[in-house]
Amino acid sequence: MREICDRHGILLIFDEVITGFGRLGVPFAAEFFGVKPDIITCAKGLTNGSVPAGGCIVHNKIYDAFMNGPEPFIELFHGYTYSGHPLAMAAGLAALDVYREQGLFERVGQLEPYWADAVHSLKGARHVIDLRNIGLIGGVELEPRNGKAGERGLDVFKRCYDKGLMVRVTGDTIAMSPPFIIEKQQIDTIFSILSDILMVVD
Ligand SMILES: Cc1ncc(COP(=O)(O)O)c(C=O)c1O
Repeated sequence: MREICDRHGILLIFDEVITGFGRLGVPFAAEFFGVKPDIITCAKGLTNGSVPAGGCIVHNKIYDAFMNGPEPFIELFHGYTYSGHPLAMAAGLAALDVYREQGLFERVGQLEPYWADAVHSLKGARHVIDLRNIGLIGGVELEPRNGKAGERGLDVFKRCYDKGLMVRVTGDTIAMSPPFIIEKQQIDTIFSILSDILMVVD
């Protein structure tokens, strides 16, 4: 994609709202894949979700295009009421300290093989048509009910919730991205609940 974008003068944007800030065991997926995008969008891990914040990390050439307008103009006038809010920025800095002090990105890298095995333990489970994982992310794709796409996924989501397990559902795919401090025993609990539910759900 990088090569195609370069060939045609297209900006390459990585949406790292989920993958950014350590979820693949390194700070950004761009580093994981060894590809330099022009723009990275980020949010969630930016403040560890403690204070709402999102951001765009951009290549210098984009920054310059925004900031170095012709005289007498200053940067492209844009912004939001709460842009660069000090509370959110303080939360972001504090999150970085915790990530570093507790070695949480490295922890993700150490947990990844265990997590991968747990995701793939659902191989052959009822309704499962695909299993995907990377870093501390897992996707369990379920076969849609006949003519009712998304219904089975929603059903599984609700049953998980009732059992104390919070997952995310996109169509018929159950998506999981647990906290970096998760213990192996808790990973076992997640997949034991999910596998029990898959056995009983229509
Ligand atoms: C991959 C991805 N991109 C973008 C978003 C939207 O992010 P925001 O609500 O910060 O705009 C989400 C939200 O869940 C997401 O998971």
